[in-house]
Amino acid sequence: MMGISTGTLLLVALLAVHAVMAGELVVKAGESIQDAVSAAKSGDTILIEPGTYKETVYIDKNNISLRGVVVSGNWPTLEGEKIRNDAVLYSGSGITIENLKIVNYKGNGIMGQAGNNFVIRNNWIIDAGVYGIFPEFGKNGLIEHNVLSGIEDAAIYVGMCDNVDVLHNEVFDSVAGIEIENTRHSIVDGNYVHDNTGGILAFITPGLPIKTNYDVIIRNNFVVNNNHENFAIPGSIVSYVAKGTGITIMAADDVVVENNIITNNEYIGIGIAGLEFIAGVRSDPESEPNPDRVKILNNLMWGNGENALPEVKAAVQAMMPGERYVDIADISKGTGSCILEKDRYVSVGLDRYSTCKMTSTADTLTYTLPEPVEIREIAADEKGKAAYYGICAGCHAYSVKMIGPPTMAIQAMYQGRPEALAAYIAAPSKVREDYPEMPPQNYISEDVRLAVAQFMLQVEK
Ligand code: HEC
Repeated sequence: MMGISTGTLLLVALLAVHAVMAGELVVKAGESIQDAVSAAKSGDTILIEPGTYKETVYIDKNNISLRGVVVSGNWPTLEGEKIRNDAVLYSGSGITIENLKIVNYKGNGIMGQAGNNFVIRNNWIIDAGVYGIFPEFGKNGLIEHNVLSGIEDAAIYVGMCDNVDVLHNEVFDSVAGIEIENTRHSIVDGNYVHDNTGGILAFITPGLPIKTNYDVIIRNNFVVNNNHENFAIPGSIVSYVAKGTGITIMAADDVVVENNIITNNEYIGIGIAGLEFIAGVRSDPESEPNPDRVKILNNLMWGNGENALPEVKAAVQAMMPGERYVDIADISKGTGSCILEKDRYVSVGLDRYSTCKMTSTADTLTYTLPEPVEIREIAADEKGKAAYYGICAGCHAYSVKMIGPPTMAIQAMYQGRPEALAAYIAAPSKVREDYPEMPPQNYISEDVRLAVAQFMLQVEK
């Protein structure tokens, strides 16, 4: 007995020593995570103990890890109280964010701007506003084992990135579950995506600086019952997502859909469309509008499409009178697509599909890169542009109403007055009846606020 308790004491002592190791900073309940980030150097890990942290954390350094310490089921919790916009915003490379609970924010749970080599892992993000996990302009990233719900736009939103894997997350009760937008080389594998308006979406948004979306593998996911009412802000791109959509492929190329279980999504199991499908979103001459070379390999699908698009329903009735369901519809002009065992599914618009020559993507284990890529340095004059596309373009499109008024209209109001525009975004006031209020952008430094104002006033599309 004595021996065991001495050993236990020794273990406790060792653990206590571990907590103050070099390169580690500890944040205790009642302290500020931001203070620790300010004190941290490249390569440091910030250990966050259980407690409630009412703050927004900005990380503009490289190689920093934020790691929650979970003790007996008690998690460190970032609490937005529905007054704060974002929980964690990073612009450095080599950022890891793990083991945090993030609740009640209005804007973003975790957002990255131009940060490469990121890992976002094992977080709970609940009722955290417009985007749950939103890396933008990042290369080489991993998003895994997170749980997200109650997100107004996309729970996991990979925007304008390269080489990102999205693995083993659970996303539910959100408008869009997992979005791969204007991104190249990504794998969406092993996720449980249920009870969203739309489950998994790979698509091009026109008008952004990155014009393409290709090489996406969507495999081994459960995509189930995505029939939630669409509660996106009217006019935003995802407000067009039809309730009941399992997987959407819009204008993205070389998307493989393999070994998913796709059931009871009442609008469609897999829907494939061109950009013209969303009337009201302007086209972009630099984005090719058709989804080409889609590959649908083996999937299990049933009970989808009971409320499909009327013309899709009509096409099914013409072929199979009395059939209630439809799994796959391609209403696009895409070319080069293929499917394995087409007769397993009720489908519409797949007459031109060939039989796939490939039967599996098992050889592609990851699209992340074996070595970290270079840190993305943004030149001073590029910062306004990066902030515009990284932050403002989420709500402001050039000529159409999104969450905020069109950039064109703002240019007319503020022409020649970038200082006034910069002042507004630091402390926005409520102006319009038919829009929500704009969240303050006062976390952006003053010089970048002016740079983004100047950029917004001269952007041409
Ligand atoms: C989360 C969404 C969101 C983000 C992000 C956002 N805005 Fe807005 N913005 C809005 C909304 C909503 C309004 C309309 C507010 C109103 O009329 O009360 C608005 C209005 C504006 C206006 C009009 C002000 C006026 O006097 O009428 C300007 C200018 C503006 N935003 C600039 C920006 C810039 C620059 C950025 C990026 C740094 C940005 N916004 C980011 C949602 C957003």
